[in-house]
Amino acid sequence: MPRIQFRLNGAAMDVDADPDSTLLDILRGQLGMTGAHFGCGANECGACNVIVGDHAVAACDTPLWSVADKDVTTIEGLGSAQKPHPLQRAFIAEQALQCGYCVSGILMSAAALLKQNPNPSGADVKAALDRNLCRCGSHNRMVRAVLRAAAEMAAS
Ligand code: FES
Ligand code: FES
Repeated sequence: MPRIQFRLNGAAMDVDADPDSTLLDILRGQLGMTGAHFGCGANECGACNVIVGDHAVAACDTPLWSVADKDVTTIEGLGSAQKPHPLQRAFIAEQALQCGYCVSGILMSAAALLKQNPNPSGADVKAALDRNLCRCGSHNRMVRAVLRAAAEMAAS
């Protein structure tokens, strides 16, 4: 099996797997990164979103070969319970989640947005989260949380 090298949350990875495997399968099944969730498996819900380079992508629709030599960031690399990312603090402060299933994907979409646009409008946030589904209907609180995080990051 060919080996694929990439960086995962800043650490070098050397994976022995079918290059056509989905990134989501490799993250969850081989690398223990279970924060990206399987929802639709068809690039339609955003539950599996991770960041490749500076862009949020659906890991369920991203072949392993395509991330060779790239930086992949998962929710595990965004923040931790001990050192949460401002987005994670803002989601808690705004109570912007219910069941939580969609949230890691939404946080990664939001983190990619803030990398590209540190001062987004509400419309920018809605557009960035447009392809992330939340069956619990927490979208309005999530938009508030992303704007709150952006303001906090701008002030720090
Ligand atoms: S599980 Fe990947 S977009 Fe739905
Ligand atoms: S918080 Fe339940 S699906 Fe979004």
